[in-house]
Amino acid sequence: MAMEAAVVVPRGWRLLLLVSAAGLVALGAPQPPNILLLLMDDMGWGDLGVYGEPSRETPNLDRMAAEGMLFPNFYSANPLCSPSRAALLSGRLPIRNGFYTTNAHARNAYTPQEIVGGIPDSERLLPSLLKEAGYATKIVGKWHLGHRPQFHPLKHGFDEWFGSPNCHFGPYDNKAKPNIPVYKDWEMVGRFYEEFPINVKTGESNLTQIYLQEALDFIKRQQAARRPFFLYWAVDATHAPVYASRPFLGSSQRGRYGDAVREIDDSVGKMLSLLQVLGLAESTFVFFTSDNGAALVSAPSQGGSNGPFLCGKQTTFEGGMREPAIAWWPRHIPPGQVSHQLGSIMDLFTTSLALAGLKPPRDRVIDGFSLLPALLQGQLTDRASTSAPGRTSQESPRIPRRNTQSCLWSSTWGATLGRGFRSALPAQSTRMPSAGSPWWSSSTRTPWSLDSLSSTCATRQS
Ligand SMILES: *[C@@H]1O[C@H](CO)[C@@H](O)[C@H](O)[C@H]1NC(C)=O
Repeated sequence: MAMEAAVVVPRGWRLLLLVSAAGLVALGAPQPPNILLLLMDDMGWGDLGVYGEPSRETPNLDRMAAEGMLFPNFYSANPLCSPSRAALLSGRLPIRNGFYTTNAHARNAYTPQEIVGGIPDSERLLPSLLKEAGYATKIVGKWHLGHRPQFHPLKHGFDEWFGSPNCHFGPYDNKAKPNIPVYKDWEMVGRFYEEFPINVKTGESNLTQIYLQEALDFIKRQQAARRPFFLYWAVDATHAPVYASRPFLGSSQRGRYGDAVREIDDSVGKMLSLLQVLGLAESTFVFFTSDNGAALVSAPSQGGSNGPFLCGKQTTFEGGMREPAIAWWPRHIPPGQVSHQLGSIMDLFTTSLALAGLKPPRDRVIDGFSLLPALLQGQLTDRASTSAPGRTSQESPRIPRRNTQSCLWSSTWGATLGRGFRSALPAQSTRMPSAGSPWWSSSTRTPWSLDSLSSTCATRQS
């Protein structure tokens, strides 16, 4: 029927059909790829086996990297949940999208219940742009871009939602009885700690399993409908209080935090194998990263590792900003690659649009750029417009002493190497040695030795 429509409709309409993904489907042209963004909460650069984490408990993510491309130089746009997520979905720096931080330590950037702000209507978010192009869109997990009605994800381009507008930590408003809603689409279906239990004492919760089922179900439905999809899987089990379901509790050598990582790793494995079983692997672009660095305030039992990098969440040191990042798209991205592209979470906005055949909005500044040259041709794009001190320069910037706490600046590899961390960073476009093994060889890998230093940089949660 759609075919006939394309024949009889006037020229202008045919053109419209042609430029939208729905139109391409109707005309039998190849469908644009599905997009699956896996966004972790407070997971650090050093948390995955493929990044050298010594207990090597992430076989599925390590395999994803071995089959795809690893980005060791990938950055968040802010070391906190809300501004980082706003940057991902808007393609813009937090200072532009309204989720900025002030000197009053991140207060403008959080969206706990006593804060009434959220994502401005003027921001054009990735799900709404993809939806206009014919994609089915869903968010699973944490939104964190405002909890008032006008900020609801379904008002900002998502067709479906299962999750919460806030973090599951808290309580934000009541110490005795946490009051954090969980939504299914428009409807509030319960609360964390009540209908959706999290046992803070034992760490038991089934939320990751629920989030996994939501994802698998959505993927199956879109496959049946032959509709391209955008799935934003924003799980929060690695954010303190960390949790895992019973089969994973106690399964890690890294404590409860490791249990949560293992359950997420297992879930990612299940999603990727479903894509394979459904024949969608080659038509689905998958990207894994985290919103900010590991929360050292929650370490060691409830926080992760930033590998050799200094400090963590809530700081703009490398540990707070540098993220694990893996891209997977069989037969499009050659397996086993390491890209030294300086990437940003904001690039996922522009890259996703490029995959859908869309151009970023022209009426505003977009800070992300497309990673497709890096992903598909192994090219490096100069990040001239983002000059953060210390990232590309060999020279360490001067930092006023009162702001440094007891951290030493270590954002350059030179400085890091100078402090005794011997990583065998491969030259650009290197292949990883083999599936599942870390991309630097074990002979040059040294265990993390900066724990004592890192612990001095846990910032107070004021
Ligand atoms: C998780 O699910 C299992 C199996 O349905 C159930 O026995 C258990 O009580 C649930 N745990 C929590 C914390 O909800």
